[in-house]
Amino acid sequence: MPFYKSIQINATTTAYFWQITEDVTSLFRAVSLKDTSLFRLEGMKSEEHQKGFLAVRMLLQHLGYTDYDLTYDEAGKPHLNYEARSTKYENENPSPITHHPSPNQKHISISHSHEFSCICISDELMGIDLEKLKEKTLKIAPRFMEVKHLENLPVSEQMEKATVIWGVKESIFKIKNEKGISFPEHIFENEFCLPDGKCSAELHFNNTIEKFKIHFYKVEDYIFVCAFPNN
Ligand SMILES: CC(C)(COP(=O)(O)OP(=O)(O)OC[C@H]1O[C@@H](n2cnc3c(N)ncnc32)[C@H](O)[C@@H]1OP(=O)(O)O)[C@@H](O)C(=O)NCCC(=O)NCCS
Repeated sequence: MPFYKSIQINATTTAYFWQITEDVTSLFRAVSLKDTSLFRLEGMKSEEHQKGFLAVRMLLQHLGYTDYDLTYDEAGKPHLNYEARSTKYENENPSPITHHPSPNQKHISISHSHEFSCICISDELMGIDLEKLKEKTLKIAPRFMEVKHLENLPVSEQMEKATVIWGVKESIFKIKNEKGISFPEHIFENEFCLPDGKCSAELHFNNTIEKFKIHFYKVEDYIFVCAFPNN
């Protein structure tokens, strides 16, 4: 199965999903990788991880980028060379996916979980997380969130809400990209209801409080979360 779908989160932010049904060899043959990526791929212990990594490159190619346009900083945060696409691809191939006119800076965030890989591209700084719904997240909820936020909900909704909150914390972590941030000690979700699809959270770290606004969606049996700094 190729490209699965996109979600337009706001005017300049879109998330793209790849449903991985291919084997590693087919994915590997379909992408072109730079040496550092080949090296990373060879070092991955599980096929699932390799497939998730390669599916991210399939998404990049789908959008007119290549693996060569993606770089990582020392902490592992990805960065996109947007100029590469705008000159190589966009001028010659009017894309089925429209990007708004913007400076040559685009932000990217990446997540993979089981049979889905996801990338989000935006003019704004943001972080994403994709997480499969599973009982374990509910079991470990007291370790990372305020369990009072799960009160009076049926178990299935408790699991969804705990997964959203997990995703909120992962997404904020990906925005900040700073050592020492602890999910239970520094990131606090505000109360919200699942049908809203939106919530907010605060990071209390290094004597400052930063606010974040969050959008979340159910995609098959996964929760997708996208967080933005709320300045
Ligand atoms: C880095 C981290 C956020 C990755 O999340 P994950 O759920 O394991 O994996 P995901 O698939 O969602 O995300 C992986 C992607 O995140 C991105 N990423 C990795 N490090 C990152 C960082 N420092 N900042 C932003 N993005 C980062 C990468 O693009 C990576 O994919 P790729 O290397 O294939 O390109 C996570 O491992 C982490 O360190 N979390 C914080 C630690 C923590 O506090 N845990 C729980 C305490 S209760």
